[in-house]
Amino acid sequence: MSLVFRNFPKYLGCRLKECKVMEFTKAILVTGGAGFIGNHVIRLFSKKYPNYLLVNADALTYAGNLENLQDVEHASNYVFERLDITDEKGVAEVFGKYEISDVIHLAAESHVDRSIENPLEFLKTNVLGTGILLNQAKKSWGNVNGHKFYHVSTDEVYGSLGSIGLFTEETSYDPRSPYSASKASSDHLVRAYFHTFKLPIVISNCSNNYGPYQFPEKLIPLVINNIIKKKALPVYGDGTNVRDWLWVEDHATAIDTIFHHGKLGETYNIGGENELQNIELVRILCKIVDEKLGRPKGSAEKTITFVTDRKGHDQRYAIDASKIIGELGWKPSTQPIDGMAKTVEWYLKNTPWLEHVTSGDYQKYYEQQYKQSAK
Ligand SMILES: NC(=O)c1ccc[n+]([C@@H]2O[C@H](COP(=O)([O-])OP(=O)(O)OC[C@H]3O[C@@H](n4cnc5c(N)ncnc54)[C@H](O)[C@@H]3O)[C@@H](O)[C@H]2O)c1
Repeated sequence: MSLVFRNFPKYLGCRLKECKVMEFTKAILVTGGAGFIGNHVIRLFSKKYPNYLLVNADALTYAGNLENLQDVEHASNYVFERLDITDEKGVAEVFGKYEISDVIHLAAESHVDRSIENPLEFLKTNVLGTGILLNQAKKSWGNVNGHKFYHVSTDEVYGSLGSIGLFTEETSYDPRSPYSASKASSDHLVRAYFHTFKLPIVISNCSNNYGPYQFPEKLIPLVINNIIKKKALPVYGDGTNVRDWLWVEDHATAIDTIFHHGKLGETYNIGGENELQNIELVRILCKIVDEKLGRPKGSAEKTITFVTDRKGHDQRYAIDASKIIGELGWKPSTQPIDGMAKTVEWYLKNTPWLEHVTSGDYQKYYEQQYKQSAK
């Protein structure tokens, strides 16, 4: 099977079985498309916009998994390029090869715990990598209209809230982990390219996502996986840290909305209006998984183990999403209880996926991160 590419927009897509002329109206570079959120964005755009070429550029770190895209990989508007965004020459080549018209930038080191272990890796990918993409977009697009550089960021840039209040787009940045500091830096760089070079950018800052294909170092899949395996459920500190949870497919529809209708230079906060303490969330998951596996009530909850708190653990994040709701008409579609049940069902049905990603690096990391700190 081969694909032949010619200049965009007179673009030829030729597969051995089915050879036809494809003309694409956009060639979108989706960075980090093999990661958790990226695969949902690619799936949505590939189905909804057959006239867009989606170029998934991903370095395939421990968090990138092409198995996440098995149902999309044969689509005629999808291609994969293994690319490290810190490789300036490689980025230039991909921009040239596909005549990239737009960028949806998701590639990042994304796990706070790993950023505490290895901050420089986060600076390299999240700050330098973003800078290299911005610079290439500036070089490739010049002052020509019709392009967009969409930077996907996190609510963690705003710091930590007390028991009341919400993050708005005007909240001052106050990042407190190397991860959030690196994302905050990248947000600033993206805005700097807008003001200094008139690069057409848009940014969104989103709360915690959950759903299918999330790497099981993050809380929800980690807990589900451990319940399945009858392992202890590690909860940081006293479990009262609050996060706002958003169904990942709702994040993908928000990205679609902002990409098409967001105003250049603007920032949009995205949230699920679904605040939960970590311990409440873990108890909900225990209940759902026990029920679905036909185990006695309360059996998973008994295995909850409080472990030494994460360094600098932010107490509460909560999003005011009224700007995207009011101005762009987006809102989350999935109720938390339905979303949690759908998530559990997906992981129970996809145990081979779970088995595959929980081998190797993940296992070593898990031992290092949680076993030593169990109280
Ligand atoms: N997961 C969340 O809850 C959440 C919430 C808000 C914002 N975000 C942001 O959304 C984006 C995606 O998050 P995610 O949860 O899907 O992350 P993820 O860790 O699941 O995926 C990141 C992807 O980026 C790739 N990648 C990492 N370094 C790279 C590099 N140097 N070059 C190219 N590719 C590289 C990885 O291989 C992986 O496929 C990130 O920018 C993150 O900051 C995530």
